[in-house]
Amino acid sequence: MEHLIGYDLARGLHIIAVIAWIAGLLMLPRFYAYITASQPGGEMEAAMLKAARSLRSIILIPSFILAWAFGIFLFATYLTGDWTGPIPEVLSHVPHWFWAKFILVLGLSGYQGFLSAQGRKLAQGQRPHSEKFWRLMSEIPFLVAIAAVLLATLEP
Ligand code: HEM
Repeated sequence: MEHLIGYDLARGLHIIAVIAWIAGLLMLPRFYAYITASQPGGEMEAAMLKAARSLRSIILIPSFILAWAFGIFLFATYLTGDWTGPIPEVLSHVPHWFWAKFILVLGLSGYQGFLSAQGRKLAQGQRPHSEKFWRLMSEIPFLVAIAAVLLATLEP
């Protein structure tokens, strides 16, 4: 039977989704820095709140879902064989580096949840963190992405 989508196409689409996801995670804390630095109730604040909301709904949420969906598809290819065996036996085909990457992507997903919650606070006029804090936070996804990509390509 023909496959609807092959492994290499899934890998390509996974990487494309990941690019959009990380780009969004790099931009959102920057927008939060601009919001935090802006005049409360001013034009800049309103424009940046709108930009942050669009970034979350148009880029971040869809690319997050697609990166996970294609990632899970790729993951499933590790598990071919006997599904009826005990779970440790089924999972023994998963390479060890994958679990390190998995912890990183869970961290990134949690980080996105944190950013969404913070976005709601900013939209209510609260400013829980400093501009400097948000500038520092915008570097985190890049560092995590470097580690996740090198784990996936070097397969240490
Ligand atoms: C969202 C959850 C994710 C899951 C479940 C997941 C899972 C996977 C799996 C199973 C593969 C196939 C690896 C292999 O060749 O054996 C893969 C490939 C890859 N992933 Fe992910 N991944 C996720 C997120 C990410 C993120 C956040 C990044 C980068 C920041 C990333 C970068 C890559 C790259 C570059 C490859 C291609 C590696 C290669 O073929 O040499 N993934 N992913």
